[in-house]
Amino acid sequence: MTDELLASMFPADDAIPDNYRIASPIEQRQYLCDGAIKEWSGPQQDALSPICVAIDDTVQQKLIGSYPLLTEQQALEALDAACRAYDYGRGAWPTMSVEERIGHVEAFAYRMKEQRDDVVKLLMWEIGKTLPDAEKEFDRTVDYIRDTIDALKDLDRVSSRFVIEQGVIGQIRRAPLGVVLCMGPFNYPLNETFTTLIPALIMGNAVIFKPPKLGVLLHQPLLEAFRDSFPRGVVNTVYGEGQKVIGPLMKSGRIDVLAFIGSSRVADILKQQHPKPHRLRCVLGLEAKNAGIVLRDTDLDHTVKECTLGALSYNGQRCTALKILFVHEEIVDAFITKFSDAVDKLKGGMPWDAGVQITPLPEPNKTKYLTELIDDARTKGARLVNENGGTVNHTFMSPAVVYPVGPDMRLYSEEQFGPVVPIAKFTDIEEPMNYVTQSDYGQQVSLFGSDTELIADLIDPLVNQVCRVNINSQCQRGPDTFPFTGRKDSAEGTLSVSDALRVFTIRTLVAAKETDANRGIIKSIVTKRISRFLSTDFIL
Ligand code: G3H
Repeated sequence: MTDELLASMFPADDAIPDNYRIASPIEQRQYLCDGAIKEWSGPQQDALSPICVAIDDTVQQKLIGSYPLLTEQQALEALDAACRAYDYGRGAWPTMSVEERIGHVEAFAYRMKEQRDDVVKLLMWEIGKTLPDAEKEFDRTVDYIRDTIDALKDLDRVSSRFVIEQGVIGQIRRAPLGVVLCMGPFNYPLNETFTTLIPALIMGNAVIFKPPKLGVLLHQPLLEAFRDSFPRGVVNTVYGEGQKVIGPLMKSGRIDVLAFIGSSRVADILKQQHPKPHRLRCVLGLEAKNAGIVLRDTDLDHTVKECTLGALSYNGQRCTALKILFVHEEIVDAFITKFSDAVDKLKGGMPWDAGVQITPLPEPNKTKYLTELIDDARTKGARLVNENGGTVNHTFMSPAVVYPVGPDMRLYSEEQFGPVVPIAKFTDIEEPMNYVTQSDYGQQVSLFGSDTELIADLIDPLVNQVCRVNINSQCQRGPDTFPFTGRKDSAEGTLSVSDALRVFTIRTLVAAKETDANRGIIKSIVTKRISRFLSTDFIL
C-alpha cells in the first residue's frame, strides 16, 4: 500500500455504503438474566470501532455504541439465576432428555440465523473483520451448532444401551457439571464464545457468558433468541470490567467450569480466585507462537502463499497464526523477495471493501506496541524488508516483514498478534527444532518442504512438542471436527465438536448386580419410560 493510499484510507461517514453504515450509536442497555432481558440504567462503556472516519481535517475512531458496565451485584444475580436453573442437577434443564435439549438448541439456531446480517455488520465494525471473514465466522458457528447436535445424537445412541460385565448391569452416560462461565476472545468473539457455550449448554449445564471487551454489541441481536429458546436462568450474560464482574463469580466458588479463551496471565488470575481449585474444571485456549519451518527443497511459490495466509489472515490476529518463520539459509533471500512481494500485494482498507485483506486493528494502542517490537528488532540488527512495511495510520498498520530476527529480539519470543512477520534464517535444522522445544508455547507448527525422509524425521519429535504438525499447510484450527488444543502455556483441555461434549460433562452410570429383582426394576423403569437417564430410547 503506498503512502498516499494509506493516508487517505479512512472514509468520510457519508462515503460508507448504506448497508454497512451505522447511522447512530447503538446504546445497548440490556442484559439477559434469569430468563428476562433487563434494562441497565448505570454507567456505560463506550464501544469505539477500530475503523476511523474522516471528519473535516481530522480522523477519529468511530463511536459505534456503548454497553453496560455491570457491577458485582448483577454478576451475582446472574450466578444465582444459573445456580437455580441447575439446582444441583435437579433443574428442568439438566434433567431434560437429550432429545428435548436438542430441540431447544435447534430453536435457538433457527432464530440466530435470522440475525446474520446484523451480527456480520457488527463483526466488521467492532473488530475490523473483513466482510467475507465475518460471514465465515457466522456461518461456521451455525455449522458448529449443527455438527454439535449430530455428534450428541451419535453419543446418545451409543449410550442408550446397557452393558453387562462380571455380573453387573450398567448404563453409562455423560452428565453435566453445573454452572459454566464462558469467556471468548476478541478475534473470534462469536465463534469461539459459542464453541464452548453451545456444547456446555446442550449437555445440560447452566451458562453465564461474558463477551470479550471488543466484540460485545454483536451479541445483542441474539439476546431475545437466548431468552426465548432456553428455560429461565439457563443462559445469562454479564458485561463490564473483568475484575468487577468476573472476580466475584470466581471467588464465590460456585463456578464449576471456566471456559476461557485469552491470555494465560488472565486465566491464572481467574483460576487462583476460585476457593476450591480441585473442583473447578478449566477449558482454556491461550497464547501461541506457532513457527513455520521452511526447508531448503520447498516449493517456494506454494510456501509463500501458505505463509502469507498463515501469518496475515485477519491481520495475524489468530491464535493459530504463523508468528515466526524459520527459513533455510540457502533459500532465505529468494523466499524473502517473493514473500515481501506477496505481502505488499495484500490490499488494505475498510472491512466491507471488495478484496480487502488487511484492516484496522481493534486493540487499543496496538500499532504503538507493534512499532515498539519492530524498533526493538531494528536496533538489534534486523530490518524491514518490504516496501511500506510497518507504516501506521491511526489504527492501521501496513504488514511488516522483519529480517533477520534473532533470540535477543522481542519479536523472536513475544506473541505479536498483529501484522508483523519475523523471519529468522537457519543453517542446521536443530535451530528451529530447539526453538519449538524451548518455547513457552506448544500449539502447532508448519513444515514446508518436499524431502519425505526429513519431514518424517521431524514429525516424530514435533508431535511431542505441539498438538498439530501441518505439512506444507498453514496452521489452523479447522476443520472443527479435528481436535484443537495445545501443550505448555497454550491450552488446557481439548476442543473439537465431539471433544467439547466431553469436556463439559463427566461420565456417570447406574449399575446393579445382576439379580432377578434388579433386572425387574430396571426393566420396569425402561418399559414405563419413567427415567430420562435409565432409558433405551434411541434418537432417530
Ligand atoms: O484464534 C484462534 C482460532 O481458534 C483460530 O482459528 O485457525 O480457524 O483461524 P482459525
